Amino acid sequence: MENILITGGAGYIGSHTAVALLEAGYQPIIIDDFSNSEKSALEGLKKITGQDIACYEGDCNDAALMERIFTENKLSGVIHFAAFKAVGESSMLPLKYYHNNISSLVVLLETMNKHNVENLVFSSSCTVYGQPDKLPVKESTPRKKAESPYGNTKKICEDILVDQVNSKVALSAIALRYFNPIGAHTSSEIGELPLGVPSNLVPFVTQTGVGIREELTVFGDDYDTPDGTCVRDYIHVMDLAEAHVKAISHLKEKKAPFYDIFNVGTGNGNTVMDVIKAFEKVSGKPLNYKIGPRRPGDVVKVWADTAKINDELNWKARFNLEEALRDSWNWQLALSKKQ
Ligand SMILES: NC(=O)c1ccc[n+]([C@@H]2O[C@H](COP(=O)([O-])OP(=O)(O)OC[C@H]3O[C@@H](n4cnc5c(N)ncnc54)[C@H](O)[C@@H]3O)[C@@H](O)[C@H]2O)c1
Repeated sequence: MENILITGGAGYIGSHTAVALLEAGYQPIIIDDFSNSEKSALEGLKKITGQDIACYEGDCNDAALMERIFTENKLSGVIHFAAFKAVGESSMLPLKYYHNNISSLVVLLETMNKHNVENLVFSSSCTVYGQPDKLPVKESTPRKKAESPYGNTKKICEDILVDQVNSKVALSAIALRYFNPIGAHTSSEIGELPLGVPSNLVPFVTQTGVGIREELTVFGDDYDTPDGTCVRDYIHVMDLAEAHVKAISHLKEKKAPFYDIFNVGTGNGNTVMDVIKAFEKVSGKPLNYKIGPRRPGDVVKVWADTAKINDELNWKARFNLEEALRDSWNWQLALSKKQ
């Protein structure tokens, strides 16, 4: 079995990707410092896969630890999820984000280069597009000025990959630009664990549904969209996990140096009200929400053109919005039972 290192593998998307890699015949190895995850994710992984997945506890900025991991394991690729992702916090603590998100990529690339590990999949985001002038957004759409230090770290990391590949080192990299990951593993053993008040819509919706939050505020209903609320491309995290497996396989067919970018979304835009209605349907209960003022900095509408990933990686989203919300809801119910 080929070993794939997953940085941030105890986190939301990383843990689902560990399952997908195992199912595809790869052996995942995790490094995580648990700065935004809990060890219970590893227990969930064991329940789903029947395996104890090796996990190094530590920081990817720790060059000595990275050196040890690369020495102890023959790796055929790396998927780099580890990063901080709270957009709001990044405006208050920019250096925390620049340090963690950028330095960890630099340390990783140095270690990969030293150990002749060529294949890297990097977690980027549709945030690099800002509010695109044309929809759906293609990979060739010019990136806009970042709205937050977090968004800027994704742009800078993409640029670092381009520079590194252009320097003709043996690196084959794919940046996956995720749209809006939601849902949880259908087993409800792993899912998103927002620490504190969730800044994303769906965890806020499910926490309101279960009574942890009193009320959801919809930020603006007077935008130029079908029902006036913001539009996003919500993608089931299990579909997103599969996209990483496809990206790793694709890299193996490419000769270094190589770099490419793929959007990972469903290709459909859904409004906040679509999410609320779909949630009410799958949970069978009304959601307590109110309409509030617009939130500064919100992108009004964005969804993906998925033709490139459909054609070149032979990947397509399988789950729809209701299925994803069903799994988010089941995960929330499972979490509430444990607490
Ligand atoms: N979830 C989203 O909405 C979304 C959208 C676009 C892009 N992304 C990107 O996808 C990646 C994964 O996101 P996620 O939602 O799974 O986040 P997450 O916070 O659930 O997972 C990230 C994991 O990385 C770990 N981590 C952070 N810094 C680390 C470090 N220096 N060393 C070791 N471990 C570290 C955290 O403990 C956590 O387990 C991130 O790079 C994020 O920016 C996420």
